[in-house]
Amino acid sequence: MALKLEPGTRLVVATHNPGKARELAEILENRFRLVSAGELGLPEPDETETSFVGNALLKARAAAEASGLVALADDSGLSAAALDGAPGIYSARWAGPARDFAMAMRKVEERIEETGSQDRGAWFTSALAVAWPGGPAVVVEGRVDGSLTFPPRGDKGFGYDPIFVPENLDLTFGEMDPAAKDAMSHRARAFAKLKAALL
Ligand code: IMP
Repeated sequence: MALKLEPGTRLVVATHNPGKARELAEILENRFRLVSAGELGLPEPDETETSFVGNALLKARAAAEASGLVALADDSGLSAAALDGAPGIYSARWAGPARDFAMAMRKVEERIEETGSQDRGAWFTSALAVAWPGGPAVVVEGRVDGSLTFPPRGDKGFGYDPIFVPENLDLTFGEMDPAAKDAMSHRARAFAKLKAALL
């Protein structure tokens, strides 16, 4: 593929979520000169698409057009099998304007109980998109499977980390050291694909 990202490229990271920005910065291994959409005062577009991939592309394209720089955006979320994939692309919205994830995690638990299902299977998805201003875009998706546990455990992560136990492990993402999570997360897996495509 002809699209390549040279080391040192100035890259706008189109996320306004500090937890995700920190993980992306670590995953990018200081390879690029990162500027955040917040620092540039870029507007946050409405996430009007119906998939993680669609929303990541929409955010990367908007940031590239608004800044004139290559832009990286992600869209991610938690999906519960018993809820047919919800909250999914609505993961942030389930936490309300106050971004209350204790409330969002209780909501996941209650909605699953309401279904009567014993299935606690769940997965995190991350779509990563890179867009060139006025040009092409590349998008990839990574996923980590696991199960949900209640009540929430651990305070090391963010969002839904305290209720997610990755496959073959006993600790929640909220109890794991950030480096251990970063090594296996949906974002790390998506980034490995992006690296293969672009670096
Ligand atoms: P968005 O990608 O900004 O629409 O938001 C995705 C939402 O999914 C975040 O606000 C988190 O609540 C949740 N989420 C995504 N990735 C993770 C993760 O690694 N751990 C915990 N929650 C996550």
